[in-house]
Amino acid sequence: MPKEKPESFQQRWLSGYTLGAIGILSTFMIIIFSTVFMPMVLFRPSPSGRGNDYTVEQVADAHRGRQIYVREGCFYCHTQFTRLQDRGYGPLVQAGDYNYETPHQLGTARTGPDLTNEGGRMSSQWQKAHLVNPRALKPGSIMPSFSFLSDRDMNDLVAYIQSLGNKRTSKNFVEAPDEYRDTTDHGKALLDRKTTGKEAVDTNSSAAANAGRGIYTQNCAVCHGLEGWGNGPNAISLEKKPANFSRPFYKQYPDEFWFYRISEGVPGTRMPRFGEILSEQQRWYLVAYLKTLQKDQEVVISKIDQLNKAEQVKLPVLTDQQYEPHTGE
Ligand code: HEC
Ligand code: HEC
Repeated sequence: MPKEKPESFQQRWLSGYTLGAIGILSTFMIIIFSTVFMPMVLFRPSPSGRGNDYTVEQVADAHRGRQIYVREGCFYCHTQFTRLQDRGYGPLVQAGDYNYETPHQLGTARTGPDLTNEGGRMSSQWQKAHLVNPRALKPGSIMPSFSFLSDRDMNDLVAYIQSLGNKRTSKNFVEAPDEYRDTTDHGKALLDRKTTGKEAVDTNSSAAANAGRGIYTQNCAVCHGLEGWGNGPNAISLEKKPANFSRPFYKQYPDEFWFYRISEGVPGTRMPRFGEILSEQQRWYLVAYLKTLQKDQEVVISKIDQLNKAEQVKLPVLTDQQYEPHTGE
């Protein structure tokens, strides 16, 4: 019997499954390296000056309160980041806000509301009573009671809650990103064009609202409805329903925020980015119109016959000859 030739290095290691396994493993390592290790080493945002600061002297110790927040697992239900698509959670966060946050309390699930800017929203008494018995203040709340915390823990935790977002105090709780406000050059230029010059629009004038009405009917009514109740004929086919502008909540919206929403749409929904479709002036006209919509009483759309009806399209009746395709003669 001929003696078998011993396998060569190449046959043994660089063929078939082994080679595949090495390939997969190294791809995996490259991905981990570039998405986990490289950012860990290279991503060093400088402090934004607006992040939470636990060094301020207080009666209670917010820094200790933070440890209690971590210990009690508040982050399982509460996030601490405001995203582009958020409304009513206050100003958006920047990377530098988290400079001193180790471990950061971003969280993943919003079983409860986002707490990024919770500080100062409620009195400390309210916060304490809420932690002891959430349902006493928010009927039907599913937040557990933390009445078992010692007095010291409770005070420190409340101090921590009150420190959240302490550098981001803003005039309006609903605030457009910096590029749309006079806090940046870009925003200043935008607002300048709105108030002075040829394209200026007075968003409080009825002339502007009237101009906006036409643009609204053409571009928005199909989803948001003629009255702005979110009941346009298209609404039925959208999973995330168009906004209902009768909600009293919208009274809080400053002009820039309306403008920002119209320009950039709402991520994760079918709301288009009209910044790419309508001119700046047209968008300000829309803002003027949206502000005039009634917001004193919330209209609830729950039945299909409340939707604006789409007009039936009447197709022309064609004769046999007209159906014939062109012959090109
Ligand atoms: C099981 C999930 C859950 C956990 C854990 C939890 N919460 Fe909540 N939390 C909620 C829900 C739901 C709400 C909204 C209803 C309400 O206000 O009670 C809420 C509301 C709040 C609010 C009120 C926000 C506002 O302005 O209306 C604060 C503050 C708060 N939680 C802080 C905490 C703190 C601090 C902890 C940890 C000690 C904690 N939560 C743990 C679910 C949770
Ligand atoms: C294809 C359907 C569609 C069209 C067309 C449309 N929208 Fe929307 N719009 C939506 C949806 C869906 C949302 C998201 C609602 C939400 O987030 O709950 C939305 C949200 C908005 C918001 C944000 C509301 C908020 O809660 O912050 C504004 C403002 C808005 N639309 C204005 C307009 C204007 C003005 C037009 C016309 C120029 C328009 N939309 C056209 C579907 C549409």
